Amino acid sequence: MQLSLCQKCYFIKGYKNAAIYDLNNNKVYSINEYGKYLIDAVITNTNIALSKKDLEYLDKLKDLKLLTENINYNNNLLIERNSIGIEFAWLELTDLCNLRCIHCYGEFGNSVINKSRILSINDWKEIIDKLLDIDCKNIQLIGGEPLMHKDFMEILDYSHKKGFKRIDLFTNGTLIDETIAKKLGRYNINVRVSVYGHNPVVHDSITKVNGSFEKNRRGLELLKKYSVNTSIAIIIMKENEAYLDEIKKYIESIGHKYSGYDVVRPTCFESHQKHAISNINILKSRYNTRPVFHTSEKDFIRNHFYNSCWNGKIAITSCGDVLPCIFSRNDIVGNIKADNEDYLKNEIIKKWSITKDNIEVCKDCEYRYCCHDCRPLAIGIYGNMFSKYPRCCYNPYTGIWEEISECTKELNNKSNKMR
Ligand SMILES: C[S@@+](CC[C@H](N)C(=O)[O-])C[C@H]1O[C@@H](n2cnc3c(N)ncnc32)[C@H](O)[C@@H]1O
Ligand code: SF4
Ligand code: SF4
Repeated sequence: MQLSLCQKCYFIKGYKNAAIYDLNNNKVYSINEYGKYLIDAVITNTNIALSKKDLEYLDKLKDLKLLTENINYNNNLLIERNSIGIEFAWLELTDLCNLRCIHCYGEFGNSVINKSRILSINDWKEIIDKLLDIDCKNIQLIGGEPLMHKDFMEILDYSHKKGFKRIDLFTNGTLIDETIAKKLGRYNINVRVSVYGHNPVVHDSITKVNGSFEKNRRGLELLKKYSVNTSIAIIIMKENEAYLDEIKKYIESIGHKYSGYDVVRPTCFESHQKHAISNINILKSRYNTRPVFHTSEKDFIRNHFYNSCWNGKIAITSCGDVLPCIFSRNDIVGNIKADNEDYLKNEIIKKWSITKDNIEVCKDCEYRYCCHDCRPLAIGIYGNMFSKYPRCCYNPYTGIWEEISECTKELNNKSNKMR
């Protein structure tokens, strides 16, 4: 018997196991070692002897509409390498900051940037025009603290007038006043506000500035008053890991929506690794600990050619340096003023093109086209751009999902050394 994969179903082999990506339903099915060899045999070979168990197994896959007797579907989605442009840009307006957060990847506020390199308001306007010219429709105004930029309002007005599809603002919330809040609401800006604690003791011990909690809370009240689309960015680290429930209740008590948290990422500053959290339950929710993967036609194709996180994104810093993302501080691909467009384009595409096929361990994993990635995290933890995605407990060589205590060993060793 020869069978074929149904249309838009893809069989991806890992070192030990395999997966079928069903792009009709956006599902990813895990296939064990037995299934891997059986499926491989029936889709490539007409003359194989099948046992009763084999036939039952294959029937189940036929019922799920993954395999069919109508052979030779043309599953050629992957022939064309889709070209891709910039879809999202972080505009890091300033490296100034009124807070001194202990975990901050940029050490913003302790500026070492030569003032002569800082982009002018006209530079930012040109960048905004250029982004729209090349069809980038989504930007995030960030920093440092973006509201510390002396021309913040002008940049906001200009970006709004130009008609981006989506403008985000990432802020510590302390500088939001009535005028700003009103405008953010009127312009339909998506505001993301960082919160670290449910009271001044916890929050201010992280921002290192007394009074920052109260100002942040006032900012959140104003955003509420003017019905601004607001989301809360909670970053959990050693210093606030005990208070996650209280922080959640606090956010809800002031009328905002709790939408989860992120955990602190090791930065290029080794000293920051002492903030790594130790609560396994908190860590667990940010890790791949079981095979719950989803896919889509767009993601499946893209992940073959481009990095699942970096693709289509760039970050531009306050002095015009271009990075693949805000976390990859040491990965400057060029400068918007000093380098020509073609050069920058080529360099950024090289970063986007780091797929899981290039990454140690992941390259042998059947989930490599549906799994998230974060290269700055790999560099922060293993010091290597091509190391396995660190927040993952799967071992594709054994097919075993390891205990989280095993897969966080490297991070723990590092942070223990720093404590
Ligand atoms: C760098 S700040 C810039 C915007 C603004 N100043 C603020 O604090 O929201 C953007 C976000 O990055 C987060 N962040 C900074 N360092 C981080 C790290 N090492 N790991 C995870 N998130 C970090 C901050 O907590 C904040 O939520
Ligand atoms: S407020 Fe934002 S930019 Fe400033 S130190 Fe804190 S995280 Fe960094
Ligand atoms: S991170 Fe790598 S090893 Fe883990 S599931 Fe994803 S592709 Fe597989």
